[in-house]
Parts: sequence; C-alpha cells; structure tokens
Amino acid sequence: MSRKFFVGGNWKMNGDKKSLGELIQTMNGAKVDPNVDVVCGAPAIYLDFARSHLDAKFGVAAQNCYKVPKGAFTGEISPAMIKDCGVNWVILGHSERRHVFGESDELIGQKTAHALESGLGVIACIGEKLDEREGGITEKVVFAQTKVIADNVKDWSKVVLAYEPVWAIGTGKTATPQQAQEVHDKLRGWLKANVSEAVANSVRIIYGGSVTGGTCKELASQKDVDGFLVGGASLKPEFVEIINAKM
Ligand code: PGA
Repeated sequence: MSRKFFVGGNWKMNGDKKSLGELIQTMNGAKVDPNVDVVCGAPAIYLDFARSHLDAKFGVAAQNCYKVPKGAFTGEISPAMIKDCGVNWVILGHSERRHVFGESDELIGQKTAHALESGLGVIACIGEKLDEREGGITEKVVFAQTKVIADNVKDWSKVVLAYEPVWAIGTGKTATPQQAQEVHDKLRGWLKANVSEAVANSVRIIYGGSVTGGTCKELASQKDVDGFLVGGASLKPEFVEIINAKM
C-alpha cells in the first residue's frame, strides 16, 4: 500500500506578514515534489493571509480549534471559521497544547471529533516526554493518546497521525531514524489490532521533532515514516528540502 508523503509545517507563534510573506514567496517559487501533500500551519490571525498568498497546491492548517461551532468562548476559533477562511486542516493535540496549555486527552478527543465532523482534516499529534521514554513507557503513553483519538474518528481518510516525541521538539535532538521507525511500526500495529488492517495500512504516520534538511532524508527512508511535521525549519527556505526529502 503506498501512502502519499505528507509534510506539515508548524509555524507556531512566529513570524509576521513581512517574514511569512517572504517565506510564502520562496515556497511558491520553489520546485517541489508533486507527490507530496504539503500543509502549512499558520497562526490563527494569519490563516486568511496564508491561504490567500500561498499557491493553491499547498494546504493550510490552523494550529488549534475549539470543540463546538460557535458561542461564548472568548479567544477560541471554530472549525467553521477555519473553513470559512478556505483552510482545510487543523493540528490538534500538539505537545505545546497538551503541556503548556494543559489540554487533556479528553478535550483533544472532543476537538478531533468536531473538526472531522465539520469537514476539516486533522493532524493529530501524540508523543512521550523524556521521563516517559526513560521510564520505558513510550508505547503505553502513545497507545493511550492514540486510543482517545481513535475513539473519536469515524473516517480515517482525513486523519494524519503525527508522532512527536516531546524531548525532540525544538531541542535539536532529532529521534534517530530507528527510534522513529520503531514507534511508527508499533503505532501501525496498534491501529491494526484496534481499528482495522485497512486503516493501519493507509493512515499516514508522520514524524516531528527537530527535523532539518540534514536529517530528513534518512528519516524519510524508513518504511513507516510517511512524512514530517516541522517546526523551526518550516520557517526557513530549508523547508523546501524537507518537502523534497524523497526526491
Ligand atoms: P521542531 O517542532 O521541528 O521545531 O522541533 C516540531 C513541532 O513542534 O511540530
């Protein structure tokens, strides 16, 4: 089963119209592998800006959304609003949402269900912290996080699972290709046992955590690594190299 390579950029709370506009120009003018789905995660306030300036071949994602369509939820944005900006994806369960903003598995599950029902694609993030890896409970942690997501998914064709070990995010400490492959393989096994073989074979499992132009090729060569979610390097021209990791 061939899975289309997927590269997400997560701009986080970075950039302004000037710098993001320059990045967008670089991307629009770059030669990119046509066999890759590319999605840029823009800050909410720049979703419209990103969607109206990025070439149509690139997708745009919100970095978060709430679990209901509208109402008295000051500061939140809904999938309906994201779609209204012409944006079709949302990143949910990112470790910064979990660990800086205290989002629970339950809330991430509810957001996942609502985003999917609203017609957004979801980049669902999971990953263990350093003490969890060192304590030998990586599998237990990522399976539990995946279960909550799986319990809220009816149509897996709109879901990309992002394995992002927390110790590798923004630290410059990329997981080795073998470490990434091992967890991706186990996640596929979990999906096979708990969802279906078809879903296990078709869902893209992407890796995130300090991916760079220098590390992307070997990671991309791993059997179960179907792409990347890229933070820091997605704000640089280097992002194009990562998109083209398989070329
Ligand atoms: P990083 O971030 O590439 O800067 O480590 C990845 C992410 O948080 O998605």
